[in-house]
Amino acid sequence: MGGAFFPTADKWQICRNNPGEQHYLVCNADEGEPGTFKDRVLMNRLPELLIEGMLIGGYAIGAAEGIIYLRAEYRYLLPRLEAAIATYKQLGWLGQPTPAKEPFTFDIRIQMGAGAYVCGEETALLDSLMGKRGEPWPKVFFPVERGYLGQPTSVNNVETLCAAARIIELGAKAFRSLGTPGSPGTKLLSVAGDCKFPGIYEIEWGMTVGELLGFCGAEDPYFIQVSGPSGICVPAAEQSRCICHEDLLCGGSVMVFNTQRDLLQVMINFTEFFKTESCGVCTPCRAGNFLLSRKLELLKRGLARPADLEEIRQWGQLLGVASRCGLGKASAHALINAMQKFPAYFQQRVRAKGREKGFDLDRALGDYREAVEQTS
Ligand SMILES: Cc1cc2nc3c(=O)[nH]c(=O)nc-3n(C[C@H](O)[C@H](O)[C@H](O)COP(=O)(O)O)c2cc1C
Ligand code: SF4
Repeated sequence: MGGAFFPTADKWQICRNNPGEQHYLVCNADEGEPGTFKDRVLMNRLPELLIEGMLIGGYAIGAAEGIIYLRAEYRYLLPRLEAAIATYKQLGWLGQPTPAKEPFTFDIRIQMGAGAYVCGEETALLDSLMGKRGEPWPKVFFPVERGYLGQPTSVNNVETLCAAARIIELGAKAFRSLGTPGSPGTKLLSVAGDCKFPGIYEIEWGMTVGELLGFCGAEDPYFIQVSGPSGICVPAAEQSRCICHEDLLCGGSVMVFNTQRDLLQVMINFTEFFKTESCGVCTPCRAGNFLLSRKLELLKRGLARPADLEEIRQWGQLLGVASRCGLGKASAHALINAMQKFPAYFQQRVRAKGREKGFDLDRALGDYREAVEQTS
């Protein structure tokens, strides 16, 4: 449910089977993808469900300790989560041997993040947990092999852990009776943007885009950004597409944009986000997002040539294959996708004014003049 779609049962099994002095369960509550707020609502409204999901995950992998890595901006949820942990301690489920089939003692602590989007990536998160600067690791080891403090670690999303608790409660059969064969069960979506009823929707996997737009009262939709800026741009015309593994994967964010919105400006905002949030450790992501933002600026000012569109595509591909982590890999997804889905729009931005506007001397000298004025 965190967006990478690796099956949790496999992750837990592999983690359990890997030898280590300790096994750790880490709850990824960083929720940094713009437009996603489902984990926040779960923690605010149903913190007990998360604690139970962590107990189940901890038991499954044989962990003695669970850590909730909480997004810095969610500090206000700390008292609520701490109260839930205290309740489960009082009930005898945390911090002491629990009445499970196998002897099992589990405890949970909370550690605050510091506000970096990249720290939602599981290995950067582990760095941050260990007090280091959060940088994604080269994929030499997976966390289930060597994670927190070098020990086998399962990193799971808040919603994944809550879903595990619900599966135990309702039974796997009931869970599997919903959804599609490739994606059983339900999914929480954070729906926002140009719609009458934004909020959290629990949908059955397989719901069509059109149905969802109807439920949320989308107003004059133009396109829908699915899975946040790292995801894909779906034209409103593609209403029959199904939200599920077999068709349209969704990590949780659905943003509706109506026909009054400027597609290019939305893509500029996304690129600025990635440019700012790149940890900078690898060149394609650090330089690529900077170059993309300059190209988009040219497009905005009507100064782009057809070759610029081609270079955007090439940089997008390069980012996808040469970046170290998912941030860089997915950073040009939405833009490239939008260019494929709305080719006429981008062509028109190129041709509309051409390059005859020429070089804007005043604009180019702006920063320099300001600096001279400040020092004189
Ligand atoms: C840049 C980046 C940011 C991410 N942010 C989050 C996040 O905020 N929450 C989350 O659960 N997973 C996030 N992920 C995915 C995690 O790396 C990891 O796959 C996930 O926590 C695993 O949980 P799951 O198996 O329960 O889905 C992010 C990945 C990347 C590349
Ligand atoms: S892809 Fe970007 S965020 Fe990821 S490691 Fe490279 S520079 Fe850092």
